[in-house]
Amino acid sequence: MKISSAQIRQKYLKFFAARGHAVIPSAPLVPENDPTTLFTGSGMQPMLPYLLGQDHPLGTRLVDSQRCFRAQDIEEVGDNRHDTFFEMLGNWSLGDYFKKEQQTWIWEFLTKELGLNPLELYVSVFKGNDQVPRDEEASGNWKSLGVSSSHISYYGVNKNWWARSSYADMPIGEPGGPDSEIFYDFGQKLLLHENSIYKNDQCHPNCDCGRFMEIGNNVFMAYKKTLKGFEQLGKKNIDFGGGLERLTAATNNDPDIFKTDLFWPLIEKLQTISGLKYAEFEKPMRIITDHLKASLFLITDGVMPNNKAQGYFLRRLLRRSMVKIQQLKINLKLEELVDDAILIYKSTDYFKNTDSRNIKRVIAEEGNKFEKTLRDGLKKVGLVSAFDLFQSYGFPKEIIEELCAEKQIMFDKEKFEKEIIKHQELSRTASKGMFKGGLADNSEEVTKLHTATHLLHAALRKFIGTHVQQKGSNINSERLRFDFIHNSKLAEKEKSVIENWINQQITKDLPVSCNAVSLQKAKEEGALAFFGEKYGEKVNVYTIGDEKTGIVSIEVCGGPHVARTGGLGIFKLGKEESVSAGIKRVYAFLKPK
Ligand code: ALA
Repeated sequence: MKISSAQIRQKYLKFFAARGHAVIPSAPLVPENDPTTLFTGSGMQPMLPYLLGQDHPLGTRLVDSQRCFRAQDIEEVGDNRHDTFFEMLGNWSLGDYFKKEQQTWIWEFLTKELGLNPLELYVSVFKGNDQVPRDEEASGNWKSLGVSSSHISYYGVNKNWWARSSYADMPIGEPGGPDSEIFYDFGQKLLLHENSIYKNDQCHPNCDCGRFMEIGNNVFMAYKKTLKGFEQLGKKNIDFGGGLERLTAATNNDPDIFKTDLFWPLIEKLQTISGLKYAEFEKPMRIITDHLKASLFLITDGVMPNNKAQGYFLRRLLRRSMVKIQQLKINLKLEELVDDAILIYKSTDYFKNTDSRNIKRVIAEEGNKFEKTLRDGLKKVGLVSAFDLFQSYGFPKEIIEELCAEKQIMFDKEKFEKEIIKHQELSRTASKGMFKGGLADNSEEVTKLHTATHLLHAALRKFIGTHVQQKGSNINSERLRFDFIHNSKLAEKEKSVIENWINQQITKDLPVSCNAVSLQKAKEEGALAFFGEKYGEKVNVYTIGDEKTGIVSIEVCGGPHVARTGGLGIFKLGKEESVSAGIKRVYAFLKPK
């Protein structure tokens, strides 16, 4: 019997809820207040403050299904298992249970709840190095669960160590640890596939040939990087992540994630409209459907196609899928797949507040712009470099090659590929985060600016009006950026009133306190909370001021914040921009006193 992806998601959440885990909602794809990364690329990313020791309002056992986007995988899409958008099922122990419980539970979930054949499962564990010993505990646990030694492989830090950055790049203070991955063996089935690159004799679980698919990763977050090497963390955490698309493929014993119900309705529509067979056009059909779904989720989370940051990746996804539709000569506009894609997620609340007409409008407008760019760009072929066509005009590689061929212009493929690799490195840095500088999200500067953001939010509502609502926030160690609902530019007078008031609150050295309460109670107490469905049952509420000094701000927030406002420095507003109709953006700084 086939198990649907919706059933797998539901079973997983239920399984861990029954073992004391609080079910938390998925955070958005664009992280708030985390300047180190453009996208949420794994389930643990929104959990970082808690993995680093902050108390989570819902306790020490958490489970969720987190929507993720990995920009660095754009060029990988086309094989049987890579996608840019995916859901990661995740469970966490924040200093609570550790290896034994995690391995026992996840094994039970995979083999009993999903019914995977234990003989098709393989695991890997950390083989140890001069800093951290071989993980005999994890392999012992697997063996006692019935995993035979021939199904357990040992790898070094490149494969079986997990931290946000690579092992070598971990900054001082960064948590990480050995991990243990679980693989599903599609074995003979994949051999039969005509495009298979599976080479029987050299193959091993972690070799990336496609026969084995990683379906889950247990991170034993037990260490912290120090000046001298590694020391054990006071509180050891579990961070588990498993891709829903891959788990669904394994459960249904078909190695192609695009044949799962998370993609197939879209592929079927492409086949019906075009009369083309998926088996003959796997790669372009996979690209179209993956990119369309990723775009839909990004637009829903507030990204618009443009040439900057997140918008740049969205533009690439949309344009690349449009080109594939054109190349296949399918009589279809990309936006015509939107309703079908939304239907795939009907059992979730991801699109609960989404007006699909807006999404279609954004995609259609981008399609029009792309057509114009293509016309303009075509005139430039031969005048600017192939890489400029790629980067500035958003021409996918395939189109550039074809154009150049038509006009009999030399296309230096090698040089082009080199430029792309350089470019991919940049994407990787952009999306994985720039951790070399340390934990920017918890640094003193960012923490101060975070508290200043709450004061700014309160000031805008006090002096401009209560229609002001936060629509976005982004902080790095230099400045804060705040998006809010408002129609006109702030007048100079308004700006100076806001600055003066905030500086007064700083001078008063107000206390900042944090309480974990239910969302309803938080709202009753007047806390600002504008992100609806993404909160869990209990939330952290940060209050600036108290009964003695007077309360100036109450907001639902993940923190972290300073303990008192006195050390913030001098608050200064910077430039203003318009984000979209009715949404303004303002920058602000804290200068030392
Ligand atoms: N954070 C771990 C991963 O992404 C679970 O693989």
